[in-house]
Amino acid sequence: MSRNLRWFLCFLFLGFLMVGCMQDVKKKTDAERLPKFAEGATYVGSEACADCHDELVEKFKDNIHAKIADFEVKPSMVSKGCEACHGPASKHVEEEDPSLIVNPAKVKPSEANALCLQCHTDGELMDWHGSEHDLNNIACISCHTVHGEQDKVAARDKLGYRHKYQKDKLLKKPEPELCFTCHKDVLAQTRYPNHHPVKEGKLVCSDCHNPHGSEVSPLLRTDETKNELCLQCHQDKSGPYVFEHAPVTEDCTICHTPHGSVADNLLKQNEPYLCIQCHGLHFHSTIVPDTQWIIANQEPGHDCPPGTAWNPSPETGGPACVPATTAPNAHAMQKIMTTKCTECHSAIHGSDLPSLAAPGGGSRLTR
Ligand code: HEC
Ligand code: HEC
Ligand code: HEC
Ligand code: HEC
Ligand code: HEC
Ligand code: HEC
Ligand code: HEC
Ligand code: HEC
Ligand code: HEC
Ligand code: HEC
Repeated sequence: MSRNLRWFLCFLFLGFLMVGCMQDVKKKTDAERLPKFAEGATYVGSEACADCHDELVEKFKDNIHAKIADFEVKPSMVSKGCEACHGPASKHVEEEDPSLIVNPAKVKPSEANALCLQCHTDGELMDWHGSEHDLNNIACISCHTVHGEQDKVAARDKLGYRHKYQKDKLLKKPEPELCFTCHKDVLAQTRYPNHHPVKEGKLVCSDCHNPHGSEVSPLLRTDETKNELCLQCHQDKSGPYVFEHAPVTEDCTICHTPHGSVADNLLKQNEPYLCIQCHGLHFHSTIVPDTQWIIANQEPGHDCPPGTAWNPSPETGGPACVPATTAPNAHAMQKIMTTKCTECHSAIHGSDLPSLAAPGGGSRLTR
């Protein structure tokens, strides 16, 4: 055997091995996930159903699925009428036997979903496979109903939450009630003193989440980054700024929590605790020259000469006018914990103006 031939055979073998392995790990296609249809059954068309299911057929006339035009039928679809979701019905029609027809509510979620996914493969549904809801065996019909009554939409739901609007979408219940049937922890969060106005009906869960899947976890309605989602509605925070604040450009949820918070402004923690996770306490806010010192401490009456500051603390040489660079003291500590950092660093999301008080005009995010 020539050396080349040996190499060739070797590669061929490897090739087969790889194809074999890939076949093994390859996920099932939707067609392979479809529920088992009655053996030997053929498609008979929707007209046949009216004989025995007249009420249901009458009601179905208003359903968007009864109005699918021929040109909308993709080659992958099995049929466009009732049998698109129920499978071939000839045996069922002949024998009037319910076990010879598929009821999506009675098969496995993955099988029922495969029926819907014959047609719903793009747009909103593009990222369904592998999404958190798919992986947790949630069925399309956990949230949607095809024949069932949809809840009549009142101004407020049972929880007292206002409805923003009702997009039909064949939902079993309007949002956010629909989502709360399973996500009770989020319900609690939307009741915190500070919350995105879901309760007030200005926002629904699906404004921020795509329940059908997303490239950005957890099911976020964006295909870029978490920040891009926030900036869709909060453009004023988008920059770019001359002086940026690193965590802001990285991820809004470093400081904010999306659903609700006990702290103000949807912050994960109140100031200064939020800030001192990353920054050391600094005392220029209390030990600064003359008037600034007095303003910061709201203790008028101590007219210290320029370059010095009033230090009320006996431990560090007070009470007296001391050089402004004097070491921190207990009073300063108390003061700093009750002052909001953003009282001075008000441009917390970024600034285009140099901070005047900073040496050399720098980027201290004060205006
Ligand atoms: C000759 C009468 C007859 C015709 C025609 C007929 N069905 Fe049925 N179907 C029944 C009976 C009887 C049942 C069981 C009782 C019930 O649910 O009403 C049933 C039940 C069903 C069920 C529920 C099965 C289950 O396990 O819950 C589905 C789905 C269904 N039919 C779909 C269809 C569709 C789609 C057509 C038209 C292609 C059709 N049927 C035509 C008589 C018929
Ligand atoms: C878009 C998919 C879809 C189409 C089209 C559809 N069905 Fe259904 N059908 C379902 C689902 C899903 C259920 C399970 C109950 C539910 O979610 O409403 C169901 C349940 C049923 C049932 C069981 C009884 C019940 O009310 O639960 C019958 C009978 C039935 N369908 C008949 C029909 C007939 C007749 C047509 C055509 C006029 C039809 N279906 C068209 C999806 C569909
Ligand atoms: C035969 C193809 C087909 C099948 C199967 C199918 N659909 Fe549809 N569905 C459509 C078309 C076409 C539309 C209208 C255009 C659109 O919104 O994509 C639609 C619309 C919808 C809508 C939007 C309704 C609205 O008010 O905007 C929902 C929700 C929906 N389908 C859910 C389902 C569910 C759940 C199933 C499985 C039980 C299912 N569909 C099975 C073709 C299908
Ligand atoms: C966790 C709940 C949930 C699940 C599971 C779910 N949906 Fe939806 N679906 C919604 C909500 C809420 C809307 C309306 C808001 C929106 O458009 O995202 C919607 C909207 C839709 C629409 C209309 C989209 C449009 O372009 O307006 C279609 C079609 C649809 N769903 C099909 C499906 C199919 C098919 C499945 C299963 C593969 C499914 N849904 C699973 C909650 C769900
Ligand atoms: C039938 C129950 C059910 C309904 C209804 C439901 N979900 Fe879910 N959802 C789940 C389960 C189960 C998971 C996976 C486990 C978990 O993380 O809670 C999940 C996961 C999620 C996740 C990802 C969580 C994570 O930690 O990665 C988001 C986001 C989400 N759901 C949003 C929604 C929204 C928005 C709605 C309403 C349109 C909704 N869900 C309706 C059951 C449901
Ligand atoms: C303003 C946008 C927004 C709204 C409105 C919103 N979410 Fe979220 N949600 C997010 C973001 C962003 C995350 C990710 C948080 C993180 O990574 O720290 C998230 C996380 C989640 C998670 C994952 C686990 C958790 O609790 O953090 C679930 C489940 C969830 N949301 C469900 C819902 C439900 C249900 C609603 C409607 C009541 C809703 N969300 C409304 C933006 C939103
Ligand atoms: C779909 C639009 C929308 C998206 C997306 C959105 N928000 Fe909001 N946000 C709002 C609305 C509406 C308010 C309430 C404004 C008002 O009442 O004036 C709000 C308020 C806020 C507030 C102020 C809360 C208060 O105390 O007043 C913060 C902070 C906030 N959002 C952060 C975020 C973050 C972080 C994200 C991304 C995870 C985000 N938002 C995504 C619409 C949105
Ligand atoms: C370093 C922490 C931090 C990060 C990261 C952050 N914020 Fe904030 N945000 C704050 C603080 C602190 C406040 C309160 C500011 C105040 O009281 O002046 C606030 C307030 C807000 C408010 C309500 C008040 C207002 O100015 O409208 C919104 C909306 C907001 N942030 C959106 C965002 C968005 C969007 C992002 C991501 C691009 C983001 N934040 C990232 C700390 C942060
Ligand atoms: C997750 C960590 C983190 C949190 C939380 C955080 N920051 Fe920052 N901050 C940074 C980083 C990183 C920089 C950039 C540091 C650098 O360039 O030396 C920065 C820069 C700054 C600067 C500019 C410093 C300079 O040298 O120009 C100020 C002022 C500032 N942060 C204030 C705050 C305030 C006030 C808060 C609370 C509302 C806060 N930060 C919360 C990480 C954080
Ligand atoms: C009374 C106003 C004031 C308060 C309150 C204040 N700062 Fe400052 N901060 C300044 C000024 C002015 C500068 C710039 C002067 C300098 O560089 O010494 C500065 C500088 C900084 C810097 C840049 C690096 C440094 O140490 O010089 C950081 C980071 C910072 N502050 C974080 C914080 C945090 C975190 C808090 C809350 C715990 C806070 N500041 C409270 C006024 C204040």
